Amino acid sequence: MKLKKDFLWGGATAANQYEGGYNEGGRGLSINDVEMGARHGVAREIHDYIHEDAYYPSHEATDFYHRYKEDIKLFAKMGFKCFRMSISWSRIFPRGDEETPNEEGLEFYDRVFDELLKYGIEPVVTLSHYETPLTLVKEYGSWRNRKLVDFFERYCKTVFIRYKDKVKYWMTFNEVNGCLEVPRPWHQAGIIYQEGEEHYQTILQASHHMFVASAKAVIAGHEINPDFKIGCMLIYPTTYAATCNPEDQILMRDIMNNTYYYGDVHVRGRYTNTCTSVWHKHNVTIKMEPGDEELLAKGKVDYIGFSYYFSGIAGNNAEEIEGNVLKGGRNPYLKMTDWGWQIDPLGLRTALNELYDRYQVPLFIVENGMGAIDTVEADGSINDDYRIEYLREHIKAFKDAVEIDEVDLMGYTPWGCIDLVSAGTGEMRKRYGFIYVDKDDEGKGTLERRPKKSFYWYKEVIESNGEKL
Ligand code: BG6
Repeated sequence: MKLKKDFLWGGATAANQYEGGYNEGGRGLSINDVEMGARHGVAREIHDYIHEDAYYPSHEATDFYHRYKEDIKLFAKMGFKCFRMSISWSRIFPRGDEETPNEEGLEFYDRVFDELLKYGIEPVVTLSHYETPLTLVKEYGSWRNRKLVDFFERYCKTVFIRYKDKVKYWMTFNEVNGCLEVPRPWHQAGIIYQEGEEHYQTILQASHHMFVASAKAVIAGHEINPDFKIGCMLIYPTTYAATCNPEDQILMRDIMNNTYYYGDVHVRGRYTNTCTSVWHKHNVTIKMEPGDEELLAKGKVDYIGFSYYFSGIAGNNAEEIEGNVLKGGRNPYLKMTDWGWQIDPLGLRTALNELYDRYQVPLFIVENGMGAIDTVEADGSINDDYRIEYLREHIKAFKDAVEIDEVDLMGYTPWGCIDLVSAGTGEMRKRYGFIYVDKDDEGKGTLERRPKKSFYWYKEVIESNGEKL
């Protein structure tokens, strides 16, 4: 089996790290707008309002808001078949709880989608990529509160109706399973635990609200346009048992079950034994409303979008490594990026096989890539051979998953196809792009765009449908 002829090659971004224009066009604040700038290796500081003298990277980000035409032209030059972006929820509903949307916000995305379609680029849209409106956090307690289900449903219906002839591929919540993995699920769920709050109880109840919200969005979306393909989005933590000690195997399965918890509800449409065992392990009771189980069963996703950056190992004595969301055990066979993320292309092949074996729905790799420091040479060139090497090996690995293992794969959108702000650290110097953006960690720079060496390499990869690597 070869990669499909209409394989969706492209790149991925998110409004909170790329769009900017945070107070323009009637937009309200979202959770990222109160998160401070570059913090290497430590949690970023979060305020509950904007301090005049502090630097917030999301406010301008890398300015897609004003430069979308120039950027989309560059994506078209690379031959993108699709482009993953997110809609900033608070651009459409500035507070999150309004009855009517902000027309100016809707018009902005009309212009963006039209520009993409002009070049034959299919938009792939995440509905909530670390984008909960700040008012919903401050006044409602964010996803702890069941009311957010209705607010999210209203937002989804609004954009589904508005863009029903422009956008076909959607995803509900970015890296939704990440909220169970982090000590502070601010990005995924808009939650910072209060003193004394039971973490598992809170986050699994909040997750239930997100599951119901996702299911309602899927049901509404399919009614509005039966051709819509609506996926969930998981972060996938390929994990190897550290040794053949059976205890390490059990530990590995325990780690994976946190991810399957989210996959099972989205794809199988119910809380499976994997899920209920997580409840019982952590003494959690989920409060459901009548009809919730039917909604989950009816609102199953069409595909799984997932991110894959690195793998980890599971064993009691494994040294710990840390990503932005996930932790893992250090694997002595693997090299690491400058940010300590283990480079493991074969782990992507494993991820594809594990997900496809378990769920039997099409898969879409919607994030993958290597954060690295790039140097602009005296002649203006940026020779990012390390990035090419990383991506080439990962592409080989997913091609094997398709060609040898016969996994159903829809497409590939490497993360941060144009440089943008790091979600984990707020840095600019941690770059993923094929296109360089002149901006530094203090927010200084001309914002000028410049293709890197990888830009020309990826263009040929797409042109040859992955044959020329
Ligand atoms: C994923 C997120 O976790 O990883 C992205 O979906 C994020 O938003 C990406 O940017 C890379 O992580 P980081 O921390 O290097 O930006």
